[in-house]
Amino acid sequence: MAYPTERPRRLRQSLGIRRMVAETTLRPEHLIQPLFVVPGRQIQQPIPTLSGISQWSVDRLTDEAKRIADTGVAAVLLFGIPAHKDAIGSEASMAQGIVQQACRALREAVPTLTIITDVCLCAYTDHGHCGVMTHGTQQIDNAASIARLAEVAVSHAAAGAHIVAPSDMMDGRVGAIRQGLDAAGLNDAAILSYAVKYASAFYGPFRAAQDSTPQWGDRKTYQMDPANMREALREVRLDIAEGADLVMVKPALPYLDIIHAVRAQVDVPIAAYQVSGEYAMIKAAAQQQLIDGDAVMRESLLAIRRAGADVIITYAAADVAKILA
Ligand code: PBG
Repeated sequence: MAYPTERPRRLRQSLGIRRMVAETTLRPEHLIQPLFVVPGRQIQQPIPTLSGISQWSVDRLTDEAKRIADTGVAAVLLFGIPAHKDAIGSEASMAQGIVQQACRALREAVPTLTIITDVCLCAYTDHGHCGVMTHGTQQIDNAASIARLAEVAVSHAAAGAHIVAPSDMMDGRVGAIRQGLDAAGLNDAAILSYAVKYASAFYGPFRAAQDSTPQWGDRKTYQMDPANMREALREVRLDIAEGADLVMVKPALPYLDIIHAVRAQVDVPIAAYQVSGEYAMIKAAAQQQLIDGDAVMRESLLAIRRAGADVIITYAAADVAKILA
């Protein structure tokens, strides 16, 4: 047997060499931290389904956001829990709504922090769906839904959001939002579209956190079928044509092939969302001492980067950023 001349192990012999030849990096600036905001004062309510994550009232959110900004993460992604729900999610677009208040407070308290807002209706509607219904039916009215979503996005940007992120999956919402923003003179507000969002069972822990479980049916008439990849490329193409500045794939780890395929097709930045179920599985297994939670988290995030994601939304953002610093 001839001695092998190709010896990949030469480049693995020390940490220094491994770092030098690493093809993929994971840095704090690649990570986005979701934050849940609730009405009230002096509230930090831990979310039972999302270990280590809390709902915050605006007065306490600013300190938490400062702590997060200090870790070097790229941005925060705001989710609101309203005081009242109704058929059209009225509170979602109010100037005094919870996300709008949070945007103004964060702009003032942490001026260097990039603010992204989730734009959707599901937490604000009494039926828990991401759009509005044709009157008296249980059918989504697509045109009315995207008009509402544009109102929500404009109100977020007017309150100071740098980037609005529609997560509803209605057809044409990116175009409607872009038009709405431009008509309001909010030309600098960018759109991160949840372009490829699957009807996934991995969102369970989140729906408890944002109280956004549909009261009937499911989200399969608007979110994508996990069986489909070509359709993902189509959704991305449509959203970019309508004005998306960044596009997202969600969930992340079970959909690395989709991230990779989207990366090959587009030249805008790609975000991937490590969703609540992905996070919860790692946390639960670590709590049972089945895995090293920090190591598995870092490896998962690195794999998502390797597949082609520029930025990753993860509940572990600040924790991981601290380890990486
Ligand atoms: C709202 C929204 C959801 C998530 C982000 N935005 C829930 C859903 O579509 O049911 C899921 C995030 C997660 O699971 O971490 N439409």
